[in-house]
Amino acid sequence: MAYYRQVGSIPPKRHTQHRRPDGGLYSEELVGEEGFSSDSSLLYHRGIPSSLVDARPWTLGDQALAPNQPLIPRHLKLHDLPEAKDAVTGRRLVLGNADVRISYAVSRGASPYYRNATGDECVFVERGAATVETVFGALEVRKNDYLIIPRNTTHRWLPTGEEPLRTYAIEANSHIAPPKRYLSRYGQFLEHSPYCERDLRTPAEPLLAEGTDVEIYVKHRGDGPGGLAGTIHVVPEHPFDVVGWDGCLYPYVFNLADFEPITGRVHQPPPVHQVFEGANFVICNFLPRKVDYHPLAIPVPYYHSNVDSDEVMFYVDGDYEARKGSGIGQGSISLHPGGHSHGPQPGAVEGSLGAEFFDETAVMVDTFRPLGLGEGGAAVDDGKYAWSWSGRGPAA
Ligand SMILES: [Fe+2]
Repeated sequence: MAYYRQVGSIPPKRHTQHRRPDGGLYSEELVGEEGFSSDSSLLYHRGIPSSLVDARPWTLGDQALAPNQPLIPRHLKLHDLPEAKDAVTGRRLVLGNADVRISYAVSRGASPYYRNATGDECVFVERGAATVETVFGALEVRKNDYLIIPRNTTHRWLPTGEEPLRTYAIEANSHIAPPKRYLSRYGQFLEHSPYCERDLRTPAEPLLAEGTDVEIYVKHRGDGPGGLAGTIHVVPEHPFDVVGWDGCLYPYVFNLADFEPITGRVHQPPPVHQVFEGANFVICNFLPRKVDYHPLAIPVPYYHSNVDSDEVMFYVDGDYEARKGSGIGQGSISLHPGGHSHGPQPGAVEGSLGAEFFDETAVMVDTFRPLGLGEGGAAVDDGKYAWSWSGRGPAA
């Protein structure tokens, strides 16, 4: 994220003395990507950010992935997953590979303090609302927000709405950012980008809290399933002790409704719907929009073989025209793996002719390595989607 932000109290020149009211020095911390060679921010702490008083194991939820074999498209019904404790420890692993993990949680409770040291997270809020407190400041999130939270950012989720918080977490083993082609060489959003800086919400003021011996749940690289492990760090003073920060690396929120869909006379390919990218995967969103207006246009997608990728569609709202008759509805995921051609269900092409508007909201993740099934995904697999185009499955 190359957009410079400044919050709270910082000294006029970097790496110089910044004093507390009692005359002591604040601790300056650089948080930076790619060594010291990419985006970074400078944070000014009341305490010493390295301080630890204890460290003990945190047993992560089941991170094992089963290969999608025999190879079939799948329909996973996320709304069948039961309510869990919170939006972090309650995540159920749905799909994943060596680059990205997709998990889902329905929760009402406050999460522990948490940071993901394996990569950036893009957490899509399907329903509900929350305050996300971070070391950079607090962010309010609501339905259809994406929260991008950089690797190693200490934060916690505090649901605020009446209804439970439904979070769809896309955890990268890399960084997640707007597509490079949307940006100038210096990082400004270009005119053809479907969104820009004004659409991003960022922490507005420092968040300071008091506390001693605070636990922080750290997800990090390790020797467990998925190359992951967990540790609980106990820190002597509250981690939210940053009086000011500046730089180009910070959490931010983007609401899907602020994405301006690109439409055409004939069907536009999914890259026009791209919103973010990570290493070896992309995130796209399909929004309510005017559809293709050539007099002979076919508004639903053509059949397609994305020969290099697996495609995960999460159906958030509306009627998904191309999937009519397949059983897919709100809260569903379809997995269309590489090696299988997919497209509209029978009758959907004819049914779409003459349509002027699609009322559909979906978030798509395309991965370049095959996805395996996590325990959460396997638990809500409808077991019959693969046969939905032909109308019959294997003989009993
Ligand atoms: Fe597709």
